[in-house]
Amino acid sequence: MLDIKITKNTAPKAKPADESQLGFAKIFTDHMFLMDYAEGQGWHDPRIVPYAPFQMDPATVVFHYAQELFEGLKAYRTADNKIQLFRPECNGQRMQDSSDRMCIPTVPVDDFVQAVKALVEVEKDWVPHIDGASLYIRPFVIATDVGLGVHASKHYTFCIICAPSGAYYAEGIDPIRIYVEDEYIRAAPGLTGFTKCGGNYAASIKAGELAEQKGFAQVLWLDGVEKKYVEEVGSMNIMFKIDGKVYTAACTGTVLPGVTRRSCIELLKDWGYEVVEGPLAIANVMKAGHEGKLEEVFGTGTAAVISPVKELDWKGDKVFINNGVIGPVTQKLYDTMTGMQWGRIPDTKGWIVPVC
Ligand code: COI
Repeated sequence: MLDIKITKNTAPKAKPADESQLGFAKIFTDHMFLMDYAEGQGWHDPRIVPYAPFQMDPATVVFHYAQELFEGLKAYRTADNKIQLFRPECNGQRMQDSSDRMCIPTVPVDDFVQAVKALVEVEKDWVPHIDGASLYIRPFVIATDVGLGVHASKHYTFCIICAPSGAYYAEGIDPIRIYVEDEYIRAAPGLTGFTKCGGNYAASIKAGELAEQKGFAQVLWLDGVEKKYVEEVGSMNIMFKIDGKVYTAACTGTVLPGVTRRSCIELLKDWGYEVVEGPLAIANVMKAGHEGKLEEVFGTGTAAVISPVKELDWKGDKVFINNGVIGPVTQKLYDTMTGMQWGRIPDTKGWIVPVC
């Protein structure tokens, strides 16, 4: 149990006047959580302080060798004005898994959840009120040693910031176009694909920018060895409903183990769908598309929630999905996930964690 010291911001910002114009994580709240680590001392000094810039030595390890990681989760306001989280312990566990790969000392899952809850409670008035908007929570850990040797840092800072946010994609729940990336890769066996480290995202930006210039929302990454099997999309996992079954890449080291992904798999299985977690060749996806068997394609992610896909483009070959409209399974997942998150339907899975 952390003993969190709270220092209130005496000059709070004005809250956004129009919550329908929030966009994704563009403004940040009045406070942040901080906790420091020093070798020999462990994690110490947990505190909530006014949101403020960091002052750091230019030779700090994180700026040069990207020894860092992050998480993403949300706080939701229910119709009866309660604030709640969705499976925060899964984010805490995943942060531990990322930490291990990045040689960053782990934060106990209970401490992670306690810190998130404490900060959200302080920032409860920042949790949006309108449908579809929530408080995006971004925990991250950075290496803070000063020096340019390539070694694991002996000092770290764990920080949590919050941003009232609307939909991640400008399209909202409208189906998006996806470009299947056949030149660049995101991950390969033995690398860091399963972690939420910033380097994974830095390496993905070029392909994402090129795809955006061509009018696509994001890229679909193929496996880094053969560029043959589908893996994930820039900011979400992806699922394909083909001939009644749902397929998605297995989390065997190169794919991010998404909390929304695993929740959707559980729901789909509850509803009687067969879910196949394993290699799915892009050639077979396109073939199914041309044969009319590619029934639905959708992304799953905390920021993106459930995001229907209407078009895939692979080396100039295109398939169009469900006439460009959201499919019934995608819609049911969206309604169920958002229904539980915003407290509109009962939490039959024990996934909701109340804050205040
Ligand atoms: C999230 O879905 O929370 C993420 O961290 C994805 C991010 C790249 C926006």
